[in-house]
Amino acid sequence: MAEIKATEILIKSKFRVQKHGEVFTPAWMVKKMLDIEGIKEFAENLTANFLEPAAGTGNFMVAIQERKLNMVKKNYCETLTQYENYSLIALASIYGIELLEDNAQECVMNMYEYYHDVYTEVAHKFGKKPKKNVLNSAKVIIKANMSQGDFLTKLASNGEPIIFSEWKATNDLGGKDKTITVNRTEYTLQDIYDKKKNELGSLYKAPAIIHQVDLFGEFEEPENIQSSEQNLRYSTVKITDVYKEELESID
Ligand SMILES: C[S@@+](CC[C@H](N)C(=O)[O-])C[C@H]1O[C@@H](n2cnc3c(N)ncnc32)[C@H](O)[C@@H]1O
Repeated sequence: MAEIKATEILIKSKFRVQKHGEVFTPAWMVKKMLDIEGIKEFAENLTANFLEPAAGTGNFMVAIQERKLNMVKKNYCETLTQYENYSLIALASIYGIELLEDNAQECVMNMYEYYHDVYTEVAHKFGKKPKKNVLNSAKVIIKANMSQGDFLTKLASNGEPIIFSEWKATNDLGGKDKTITVNRTEYTLQDIYDKKKNELGSLYKAPAIIHQVDLFGEFEEPENIQSSEQNLRYSTVKITDVYKEELESID
């Protein structure tokens, strides 16, 4: 049975406590807080979104994942495919922000390790091995949902706005379909505060595509090399394939 770590480090150094207020919450207190009426039901709900604004190494985020995955094991585990799809949907509803790089990285690792261990255990119960595409999709979801930045300024460590992805299922999840497709749409933290509705699939900043230069052709002046930034969006894909981060042209 996958378990949350037994040894708890609640303080890394006196300096970090003074500078960043870095004191981690012990497991017993996390449990007590997640058992509060109202919060408990949300933590066991498949799609209820959680945002941890000062995530640390993920004590709350991993505990929420544990509760959501327990619910998925109970209700959406008729087949391994169903578990894979619903566990990724559950994972996609947990978000975090953390100021310090090492904590943010540890948080991503702790979230992934927990997902990996429970998935492996469930796969073995079905006499199967964990699939690479499911694990890679979990990695992409966890990384996209965890931002290293400052919750107060709403800026990421690179100085850009904090960006989160919404993973919207196109299926009726109550219908207990075995496979789920999703639209990934990016929002800044400010958009979320403003309750903005972005176009499905839209990116905060689409990557520039530099049109290929013919190496054997005439030398082309830099101004003739075209780049396009605006007309791409995320494709609608199976949740078990989000690791491909497929983009499509809007036109
Ligand atoms: C008190 S610890 C709590 C960590 C975690 N929530 C827990 O309960 O174990 C506070 C964490 O918040 C982070 N932090 C402090 N100010 C922050 C800010 N403005 N934005 C995001 N994270 C911040 C610190 O780096 C530290 O890891």
